[in-house]
Amino acid sequence: MAEKPTLLIVDDEKPTREGLRAALEERYDVYIAEDANAAGELLERESFDVMLTDFRLPNEDGLKLIARAKSLSRPPICILMTAYGSEELAVDAMKRGADDYIAKGRLQIDELEMRIARALKQRNLEVENVSLRQQLDSRFGLENIVGEAPVMREIFEIVQQVAPTRATVLLTGESGTGKEIVAKAIHQLSPRARQPMVTVHCAALSATLLESELFGHEKGAFTGAHERRVGRFEQAQGGTLFLDEIGEIDASIQVKLLRFLGERTFERVGSNKTLTADVRLIAATNKSLESLIKAGTFREDLFFRLRVVEINLPPLRERAGDIPLLAQKFLREFAQENGKAVNDFTADALAGLMNYSWPGNVRELRTAIEHAVVLCRGEKIAARDLPPSVRGVRAAEAQISMRNDLTVKEAEKQLIVRALKDTDGNRTLAAKKIGMSRRTFHRKLHAYHLEGF
Ligand SMILES: Nc1ncnc2c1ncn2[C@@H]1O[C@H](COP(=O)(O)OP(=O)(O)OP(=O)(O)O)[C@@H](O)[C@H]1O
Ligand SMILES: [Mg+2]
Repeated sequence: MAEKPTLLIVDDEKPTREGLRAALEERYDVYIAEDANAAGELLERESFDVMLTDFRLPNEDGLKLIARAKSLSRPPICILMTAYGSEELAVDAMKRGADDYIAKGRLQIDELEMRIARALKQRNLEVENVSLRQQLDSRFGLENIVGEAPVMREIFEIVQQVAPTRATVLLTGESGTGKEIVAKAIHQLSPRARQPMVTVHCAALSATLLESELFGHEKGAFTGAHERRVGRFEQAQGGTLFLDEIGEIDASIQVKLLRFLGERTFERVGSNKTLTADVRLIAATNKSLESLIKAGTFREDLFFRLRVVEINLPPLRERAGDIPLLAQKFLREFAQENGKAVNDFTADALAGLMNYSWPGNVRELRTAIEHAVVLCRGEKIAARDLPPSVRGVRAAEAQISMRNDLTVKEAEKQLIVRALKDTDGNRTLAAKKIGMSRRTFHRKLHAYHLEGF
């Protein structure tokens, strides 16, 4: 921080004002005001780090001024200067929001500076904490997961319920439905958030490598094990271990996981020393574990241990009502990343997005929006900016004839009409199909005069 902190001095006596200014202006960017009105104006205009105010001021007293300053969105640190000996007033001042007080009669500049520095340090810490927390929350917390469809709301509730516990969670769902982002949210919302979350992509490694990856190995445990190595379980100590693509793991490792889930113990490869770790497991799969069990490649007992809580992420096509929200989120993200002024979709483009079936789910939608933002030449993404696959299917389906001047509302109306047609007018099913709550669905039926459908 190269800039000097800003300081506002409020005092009706010129010698005091000027004396303080002279003493402090080397280290602070000093402003002065002779009464509460002048101070109020400055507070509106500038953002101050510190306000140093006399209690006795012509119109409004220093305490009222402090109360006003503290109601600003970015309030300064407030230090009240009181007449010597008015201890009671000082206590009152602290109660009313002052951060510190100082007796004017024996005002010592070093002491004043020390107090200002201390208050500033305290505030910088607070600001830093808040922004760190916001960064973490906004990257991994639930705020980052978009969804208003009833199934998504249910998922958010379950996530909030299980996050504080150590229960093993199994995340299922097609590729790109958001399993990993949910796993991160669970970790982030858990008391383990300050400890590591370690991810292992189980499908990427052979059985031997996966075993040593997970549990570690001793030097010489197998050809190529030149050094002792700490495994992911140990690295995740106190935190969360996320086992992605759990359906792919070898039978020998399934046994070891089963044991860990039962006893919380394991051994490094090539060692017979039993270790333990306080680790919460989250597993994910886009395969049906049930069918792997039937096929004999996945242990049923492990399945039950993993699935203490199962969260199934539905395919995007079953929550098409969330498409506009997700699309807007990704649009903002990629417009910023690419420094483009794109800020919306044409109704045609939006209808295209809503009509496509998204086999690659949210990930595919995200990539499609990135593609469109990069190609977009105006302020709105047009249908022609979308990837051919998205446009192509839309043309082939051509279930809805889109006019160029179609509005967003019309696109939504048509989505509803189509859902009603597909479900023979069953409103509950139709709402479910496009992932709207029944209430929203009914509200929209009313708004679009579709009650008679
Ligand atoms: N509801 C959502 N809100 C915002 N972003 C989402 C949402 N769901 C998924 N995403 C984003 O979509 C992409 C794919 O999500 P993620 O990696 O979590 O899927 P996955 O289910 O783990 O897929 P796979 O099975 O292929 O590994 C990520 O960029 C993720 O941030
Ligand atoms: Mg994943």
